[in-house]
Order: sequence, then C-alpha cells, then structure tokens
Amino acid sequence: MFDKLASQPNDPLLALIGLYNADSRTDKIDLGVGVYRDDLGNTPVLRSVKAAEKLLLETQSSKSYVAPEGDRVFLDLLWELVGGTQSGKFAAGVQTPGGSGALRLASDLIARAGTGRLHLGLPSWPNHAGIFGATGLNVETHTYFDVPTQDVRFASVMKALSGAQRGDAVLIHASCHNPTGAGFTPGQWEELAAVISERRLIPLIDSAYQGFGAGIEEDVAGLRSLITAAPEALVAVSCSKSFGIYRERTGAIFAVADTQAAADTARSNLVTMARTSYSMPPDHGAAVVRTVLSSDILRKDWMDELNSMRDRLQGLRQQLSNALADGWQLAPQIAEQQGMFSLLPLKESDVLTLRKEHGIYMPTSGRINIAGLKGADIERVAAVLKPLLG
Ligand code: LMR
Repeated sequence: MFDKLASQPNDPLLALIGLYNADSRTDKIDLGVGVYRDDLGNTPVLRSVKAAEKLLLETQSSKSYVAPEGDRVFLDLLWELVGGTQSGKFAAGVQTPGGSGALRLASDLIARAGTGRLHLGLPSWPNHAGIFGATGLNVETHTYFDVPTQDVRFASVMKALSGAQRGDAVLIHASCHNPTGAGFTPGQWEELAAVISERRLIPLIDSAYQGFGAGIEEDVAGLRSLITAAPEALVAVSCSKSFGIYRERTGAIFAVADTQAAADTARSNLVTMARTSYSMPPDHGAAVVRTVLSSDILRKDWMDELNSMRDRLQGLRQQLSNALADGWQLAPQIAEQQGMFSLLPLKESDVLTLRKEHGIYMPTSGRINIAGLKGADIERVAAVLKPLLG
C-alpha cells in the first residue's frame, strides 16, 4: 500500500526550524516560525504558567478522562476572555488540540452544514488554505493586503463579501494578522459587521494572538462586534501564544448563535466529529489556563506578563522602523502593524540570500517574526534589508 503513496514535502514554515538549528553560525537570526522570544532569544515558560503547573502537580488527583467537549470550566473562562458577555447570544465551546484543531473542526462543521464555501483574504496563514482544503471546502480567495504598498485592500474584501451568498463562511483574523500584522480600522470593522449581517454570512474568526496587538480587550473588540452582528459565528481560539503553551496544543472552537438550542446542536456536531478524529482533547494546557484564569493572583500576573510581551514587540517594531527609515519609505508601517508578524516585499531569491549570506531566517514569503529580533541585532538586520526594500 505505501508504495502507492507519493512522498509529501515538509511544511515549509516548520522545515525552517530544522534549517535554522542546523546552521552553526553563532550570529544567526531566527525570524521564522511564530513563537514569542525574549531578548536572549528564549521562549521561557511564563511565571503564571509555572505556578499553575506547580499547583496542578500538587493537587491533581486523577488522569482519568474529563469530558468529550473537554474542560467546561476552561471553556467558560476562555469564552469570557474572548467573547465577553454577549447579551442575547449563546456560545457553545469544545476544547481542541490548539487553534489548528479548532479551525479543523470549524471547517468540518461548515462542510457538513453550510454552503461548503469559504471566503479567504490573501495573504493568510498558509495552513488556513491547507485545513479548509482538507475538509473539501470550496475556498474562494480575494486580496486582503498589497505587499508592495503595505496597504489593507478593504475595497477588495468588501467586494468579495458583498458578492457572497447567504450562509457562506468568511475567515476573519481577530487581531495581529498573520502574516501581515495589518488589521481593520474601527470603521472597517463596522462595515464588515454590516455586510456580514446583511448577507447572513458566517464569520469564522481566528483568534490566536489576543493581547499581542493593542491590548487584551482591544484585540477582541472587532471580533465581538462581528459576533453581535452575525446570526451565527464560529470562533477558533488558540492559547499557544497568549499563554506561551505552544506544545501543549490548547485551544477551543466556539459556536455562537441566537438561541441556546442552536448553539448546543452545533456543539453536539463538533463533539461527534472530534470523537471520530482524536476522541478527546489533551488536558494539561487547558488545566493550566483554567488554573491561571480562575485565580485572581495568577490572572493578574499572566496579564502583566502578556502586557510586557506586547510592550517588547511594540518597542522592537519602533526600533526596526527607525532603523529602516532612511532606506525604505514604508518603514513607518512596521511600527503601526501589530503582533508578531510583518510581511516584507522581498523576492524569494532575496530571502534565500539573507539565509545563505547573513544567517537571517524567514519563510520565502518575506514574513518576519518581530519577536525573533534581539535589540542588538536590529541595526545589522536593517542594514542588509534596506538595499532590498528601498
Ligand atoms: C506561525 O504562523 O508561524 C505559527 O502559527 C506556527 C504555525 O503552526 O504555523
């Protein structure tokens, strides 16, 4: 049987981890995969997470199964953090293995119940198209962002959604757009909410970077306005970045509807689909998030840690923008964009040269993970980027 299979290429983003690790240069710089790093280049376990793990170690009395939908307390606390208290809306959550697991279940649900069509603005996180394609959705793409001018193409987004059919799904990044860092203005969120409501579209909102953009509440304001406007919505949440628990694979999918019955029906389908895939989600990361969010002291410490990660990112953005300013007129955009990523107008050959000649690693799209910069590297990085960008 195996001889009937064609060998598959490695995921280019994940393959970068191996390429970077294999490079013996001590001054190499990793701007590749999206993990937060401190100024020493480390991704430490957050204090609040360590404290929660210690508590769990001391108090957890069983490793038996939790429930098909996962940990209900975790789900309630996470929804409160993301969705807030939506009057007149009902959310039903299912814990998932990471944000990717949430997107996969959402995509399965759309394939099962919706028009099977999803509108995706490009560029987007490459795995979006992979996940939606794997569940057989018909993915219709439109331009979200113009790389050479660093502009969000809002007219193109509105054109695509105005032409969408009732019940079509549309993928929306909640904040800290991956890969561009460029989001909607408050006015654009309003227009988006209006078209989604009028066309009766289903927003599938990917929330993977809450707290890394403008603030913990600010980063979900647009998401909340869409949920209020849409008759039904799906919200895929990742805890990987906001809690720094990447490898614990912790996330959730929430089905939001106008009635409890509709939300419960959606949840029962999500649970059934999970059961035939991985049965039940892993517990540890969700137990950690539950422990952090349900303790006033740990929650406060976690917020402080998240706020300081955001401050570091914003500081690095400003420094890089300043260092590029005398060679690239769009450099101020880098400071305005939010979250971990910006998408530079680089050719694939430029990216490969940066890798080979300078030990600077990024995917061939030209996306950079701002958190991978150390303060001391910025002048060197800017000096080699300027001739390529200018
Ligand atoms: C990224 O975009 O780098 C992260 O979301 C990691 C991943 O799984 O692709």
